[in-house]
Amino acid sequence: KRRMAEPYKIKAVEPLTMLTYEERKEALKQAGFNTFLIDSADVYIDLLTDSGTSAMSDRQWGALMVGDEAYAGSKSWKKLEAAVREIYGYKYILPTHQGRGAENILSQLKIKPGDYVPGNMYFTTTRAHQELNGATFVDIIINEAHDSSIELPFKGNVDLQKLSNLIQNVGPERIPYVCVAITVNMAGGQPVSMQNLREVYELCHRYGIDVMFDATRCVENAYFIKEREAGYSNHKIKDILKEMLSYSDGCTMSGKKDCLVNIGGFLAMNDEDLYARSRELVVVYEGMPSYGGMSGRDMEAMAQGIYESIDDHYISHRIEQVRYLGQQLIDADVPIVRPVGGHAVYLDAKQFLPHLQQEEFPAQALAAALYLDSGVRAMERGIISAGRNKETGEHNKPRLELVRLTIPRRVYTNSHMDVVADSVISLFEKRNQISGLRMDYEPPTLRFFNARFSPL
Ligand code: F0G
Repeated sequence: KRRMAEPYKIKAVEPLTMLTYEERKEALKQAGFNTFLIDSADVYIDLLTDSGTSAMSDRQWGALMVGDEAYAGSKSWKKLEAAVREIYGYKYILPTHQGRGAENILSQLKIKPGDYVPGNMYFTTTRAHQELNGATFVDIIINEAHDSSIELPFKGNVDLQKLSNLIQNVGPERIPYVCVAITVNMAGGQPVSMQNLREVYELCHRYGIDVMFDATRCVENAYFIKEREAGYSNHKIKDILKEMLSYSDGCTMSGKKDCLVNIGGFLAMNDEDLYARSRELVVVYEGMPSYGGMSGRDMEAMAQGIYESIDDHYISHRIEQVRYLGQQLIDADVPIVRPVGGHAVYLDAKQFLPHLQQEEFPAQALAAALYLDSGVRAMERGIISAGRNKETGEHNKPRLELVRLTIPRRVYTNSHMDVVADSVISLFEKRNQISGLRMDYEPPTLRFFNARFSPL
């Protein structure tokens, strides 16, 4: 197999800081062993998130200059609206400042207290907006998604039996919509198959239930369909994406991921009445329906980013780069979520540090150890992120205790991936020396952002 290089060349560079071991030790202590609290100036390779961290192209930077900053009827909005209509195929589009702005409006308009919103695993902000509006979230992802070691091509699929059981149990009138994420972030960036999307849509429409996608990483999902699903290997990403989205009634979108911009999002739908009501709420929460929290130049950059995102070379390098890192870890027997997903490699901290109890926060401890070793910043996705049970006050104990190495789009080269792999592998070799953590400060909500720890 021939090797693949980055499908871009570098026009502007951003120099990186490399602290010494002693300086990193001090920075980690100052940050209370929480990678969210480390200053970005103290980070060498930043794999905290792929959200808003993409590198824009020269064309996107050029597009900024022609942004139309009119308060009403901006030309840049027309351009973005046209790009979403063309590539995503929905009839009505509204801009929002980012994904959760769209989630807020959709949840407010569709959910009544006592409703149920099924989803293929939760995402934090998506579920928070559903619950704030009185809904109960119900997980309908296939069971295998909760096991890090099971290899399946489409581990993000909806379990149709779980969905139809829920419809039977609570009645279709209690389900305002089904939320399908493509890909599934919390499951490790796992994709959903075209067949599954089609079947979910058919089942829902038999009962008059809408399907709303969380399209945040939909282009990455399209690549997996091209690669893994029979009949799609010769299709263009653009056409696969269009077909995927045709099995939905609308979507929420965080432009900060697949649209290759640093800020922005949208809410899209085909229902005219929902659109009219959404326009009202966009004005209340986001801004005029012709900017929705974005500046004109942001919208220009996003319109251009949407076209670049569906380039077959871009998306294939994107997914292959994530896999390039994952494969090096697999080859060294480091336990990671399998198969490697679209936007990140997830270390399985329970297997990595079997000598630690989950109450000793293995994923948090591993993320801290990684920073100390090499200045690479990752994110805990385990017991700390899962918070406490509201009734009992006990820690929620998720089966998956993970460290997410999230790869920003077009930012790092494969040499950076090599550095990350070397560091993780060297930690794995001395894993017995990594001790657990004690939580010294625990904020009441979304504790993972601000909690502070010290070594046991
Ligand atoms: N849906 C998914 C699947 C996401 O991953 C995110 C954000 C959102 C919705 C919300 O979008 O941030 O634009 O408001 N995920 C980021 C992450 C924060 O790091 O995974 P937003």
